[in-house]
Amino acid sequence: MSRVTHSCTPFDGQKPGTSGLRKKTRVFMQAHYLECFVQSIFNAIGGAKGKTFVIGGDGRYFNAEAIQTILRMAAANGAHRAIVGQNGLLSTPAASNLIRQRETDGGLILSASHNPGGIDEDFGLKFNTANGGPAPEKVTAAMYEETKRISEYHTLDAQDIDLGSIGETRLGEMTVEIVDPVEDYTALMKTLFDFDAIRAHIAGGFSLKFDAMHAVTGPYAKAILEGALGAPAGTVLNGEPKVDFGKGHPDPNPIWAKPLVDMVMAEDGPDFAAASDGDGDRNMILGKRCYVTPSDSLAVLAANAHLAPGYDTGLAGVARSMPTSQAADRVAEKLGIECFETPTGWKFFGNLLDAGRATLCGEESAGTGSDHVREKDGLWAVLLWLNILAERKASVGEILLHHWQTYGRNYYSRHDYEAVDSDTANALMADLEARLGELPGTEVHGLTVTKADQFAYHDPVDGSVSKNQGIRIFFEGGSRAVLRLSGTGTEGATLRVYLERYMPAEGALTIETQTALREVAAAVAELSALTARTGRETPDVMT
Ligand code: G6P
Ligand code: ZN
Repeated sequence: MSRVTHSCTPFDGQKPGTSGLRKKTRVFMQAHYLECFVQSIFNAIGGAKGKTFVIGGDGRYFNAEAIQTILRMAAANGAHRAIVGQNGLLSTPAASNLIRQRETDGGLILSASHNPGGIDEDFGLKFNTANGGPAPEKVTAAMYEETKRISEYHTLDAQDIDLGSIGETRLGEMTVEIVDPVEDYTALMKTLFDFDAIRAHIAGGFSLKFDAMHAVTGPYAKAILEGALGAPAGTVLNGEPKVDFGKGHPDPNPIWAKPLVDMVMAEDGPDFAAASDGDGDRNMILGKRCYVTPSDSLAVLAANAHLAPGYDTGLAGVARSMPTSQAADRVAEKLGIECFETPTGWKFFGNLLDAGRATLCGEESAGTGSDHVREKDGLWAVLLWLNILAERKASVGEILLHHWQTYGRNYYSRHDYEAVDSDTANALMADLEARLGELPGTEVHGLTVTKADQFAYHDPVDGSVSKNQGIRIFFEGGSRAVLRLSGTGTEGATLRVYLERYMPAEGALTIETQTALREVAAAVAELSALTARTGRETPDVMT
């Protein structure tokens, strides 16, 4: 087994984005492409020598092959140990947990999250640091610099190893430890939640379904829900991870997980249903004939987290991304705890979590999590909901209504305009930004603008400032519209318009959401000249 050094020339565009390097699978499969990026990661973190890494992914097409390549390269670069999920599987939150529990030097996570998988679909690789969270910008910037000057990479001339057998083997001088991907994660969940109470609730007739969408959470959900918590076999739907996710979009929202939504809307539907995405960090929560928006979910979890053992001493603070509704702010105010408003992207929560300032975090894009790991965590959100339902012995619908009757309701919806011409979208944002100063006092569709700004975040922990994170327009009475351009779109620009209307506790709490938001939608469309500029009358997607 000899060490080989290959010379190579840089590939264009190996620039890590919000969640590492994401490209079409065939791009990653080109000769030397993955190798150049992996060597650049090692170079950027001061080499791999003597280090221990966690390695695993969401099981999509090319996952196992890429892991073999990474292992050979880690060994050739002098790594001490690699901890690998059996068959190459690790959900993103489980990888974050292993990185922390085993006090490693970081991890390489293979995933393109909720994007489809397959040879003609998407693939991704990201590096998480020793705190278990995605590498901060200064680290990803250093990786990018390395990708531009890479001239050689190191690997071993060695056979593939068996990723299926749990235990230790050696690859050159490096120890490879294949672990059960579910075990440590389940142990962590048992420290946070009252498994006995949830088990008793299920045994008492509470029915549930979990849609793993043929992605990585299948084995986790089976072990935890059907195993440890005693839910009947068949509770987990689409529980076998597939390289192409059964040709679906593993994105837990009412569009891509429609069969699950149809199920809870039916007469004989389950009491509770949930889904997670490709790599297990997103979640969708449903109750009998009701859908819980991610923003409401964060607020309800914040108000009730003390009912679960892991949070029974209360929360240090709550954090939400700026476009996420302000429902959580009202809970924080009542609890007398800090509430943080961060730019879109989980990485902005890292400092707050590390500093102990925030305990729960959430985003409108279906991410919820806590300080137990440094990623959002789909199954964790499901278990916290189950723990709360078991304690309160109320339905999801009753808990939601009671929440609104206590705090008022923040009606909320996101309208997406996809594949808009980039210049058009940029001009729309720039022109609106230029007019922000004159908006306060304007009356439009019966709503009066009270304040309008371009959101900038001042990180209270490290003092860094992130500007231009989206336009906020506030209206009298607590309603709000936010406009920003997606940072993850692939074709043209995706304009996201986030609509929110506050209804006090004594007001009408059960209006149909789009009806409740009609005026806010019309107001923001008029202020931004949306239809005139884009030619679009209606959004492509409403969540
Ligand atoms: C990724 C990140 C999330 C973020 C989302 C926003 O999924 O992990 O933290 O909320 O992107 O995507 P957008 O398309 O709105 O920029
Ligand atoms: Zn994801």
